[in-house]
Amino acid sequence: MEKTFYVTTPIYYVNDVPHIGHAYTTVAADVLARYQRLSGYRIFFLTGTDEHGIKVEKAAREAGEEPLQLADRVMQRFKNLWVTLNIANTDFIRTSEARHQEAVQKFFRTLVEKGDIYRGEYEDWYCVPCESFWTDTQLVDGKCPNQDCRRPVDKLREESYFFRMSKYQQQLLRYLEENPGFVQPESRYIEIVSFVREGLRDLSISRTSFSWGIPVPGNPKHVIYVWFDALLNYISALDYCGGGESFQAFWPAQVHIVGKDIVRFHGVYWPTMLMAAELPLPKQIFAHSFWTNKGKKMSKSLGNAIDPCALADEYGVDQLRYFLMREVPFGLDADFSRQAIVGRINSDLANDLGNLFSRVIAMVHKYFNGDVPQGGSLEASDEEIKDKQAAVLKAVAECMNQLAFNRALIAIWELISLLNKYIDATAPWVLAKDAAKKERLATVMRCLLEALRLVSVLLWPFMPASSESMWEAIGGEGRLEEQKLSSAGQWMTVTAGTKILKIPALFPRIEQNNTP
Ligand code: MSP
Repeated sequence: MEKTFYVTTPIYYVNDVPHIGHAYTTVAADVLARYQRLSGYRIFFLTGTDEHGIKVEKAAREAGEEPLQLADRVMQRFKNLWVTLNIANTDFIRTSEARHQEAVQKFFRTLVEKGDIYRGEYEDWYCVPCESFWTDTQLVDGKCPNQDCRRPVDKLREESYFFRMSKYQQQLLRYLEENPGFVQPESRYIEIVSFVREGLRDLSISRTSFSWGIPVPGNPKHVIYVWFDALLNYISALDYCGGGESFQAFWPAQVHIVGKDIVRFHGVYWPTMLMAAELPLPKQIFAHSFWTNKGKKMSKSLGNAIDPCALADEYGVDQLRYFLMREVPFGLDADFSRQAIVGRINSDLANDLGNLFSRVIAMVHKYFNGDVPQGGSLEASDEEIKDKQAAVLKAVAECMNQLAFNRALIAIWELISLLNKYIDATAPWVLAKDAAKKERLATVMRCLLEALRLVSVLLWPFMPASSESMWEAIGGEGRLEEQKLSSAGQWMTVTAGTKILKIPALFPRIEQNNTP
């Protein structure tokens, strides 16, 4: 049977414009999807926009437009950003689409039929910016307990439909205990387990206080609460309603990538909803941390959100993607600074990788007229490269399976620095002076080209456009995106005599003094 891999990002609220935090989640999901594609999986990679709720309704009213108009406008900004950042998503789901609405209503009806949804009355504290309800005991100094929020909350009392979440507490707890990898990293897993242990209340899942949402089937006075609506995007995009090929092939998801602020919704609400509907649970929820700007949380109100489009424009798309994935372990907090991105570009990309690549191309042109040389038998230092390749392929696989993107890159850079050392040690410019060493020179060039081919495959998930340029320049056969890791380490797949192309510097240095 064909191996499939389903990865998702959260769907982004349309009441805010995209910033670097959104770009971070989506780039990470894209890197993972591309890597698993090279590993031989058929991929479904989903992103989209979360368009309903009181926040959007309010923002639209303030802007003097209909909620859908506002959603259309902001959704387009997200879509454009994904094109700019070279994100290869399979689908883009909007919660305002009919296919989503139908899925949510079907799901709602299924739970009503099961007796897991009932009508009651709701009274609690509501935080509008977080779209979250809190009990008296959860409030901190009478304010929203969300660490990054702490804003005033409103008391809400209204008729509401409830999801019998409490019924699934034991089942979820057992599931969490039996599957410690379900929520990652471990700190988030511990957080979820203790939240569930404290006891799950039934969840209010409808509102009558606003109307921009999906109507409750049979009682349109109510709209469905945003989280109950939003979480279902993960199956509505697979045609849960039709129960067709995509749903069969791709559900359950391998991983939902989310920020740490929304791990509770994914680690508690979502699995209990799925249990109630008797659907399989996603294999994993992976929560990453936050990007701050000079130590401060980014927000619209502080006006300090970093625009990923501007960064991509200034530094380059692949440079930005690389920086986001390399700078900090996925899962830990990260602080943005221009010095940090410039440092990474100059040292890792321009010096280590870019120079290596242009030196090899220049030497193949100088010594072999730009033709891939055949080369002769391998010496110990050449074998060392081969061994390193195998080790790096293995290390990268392990890291990517743990979403340890920065460690995967560190492993690839070990190969890159070995190649730089190899050039210094073999000194091709010395070999070139001696006609008797021509074959040795050819072998050295051949080894470098073979290893660079693997480097370009391994870097494709992270920096697709630059890797494609590298691949084409050194005569890689077929399309890079169609390569498979299982054969990427093989040598001598390029015929001797294949032309090597001269290309402009992949990663130009950035002058430090231009950075504020
Ligand atoms: N709409 C909900 C998600 C519903 S998923 C069924 C939502 N949207 S959001 O637009 O507010 O946030 C989307 C994602 O961006 C979240 O994973 C959030 O953690 C992430 N980030 C928002 N700000 C961030 C940073 N400053 N840094 C890193 N990620 C951040 O929540």
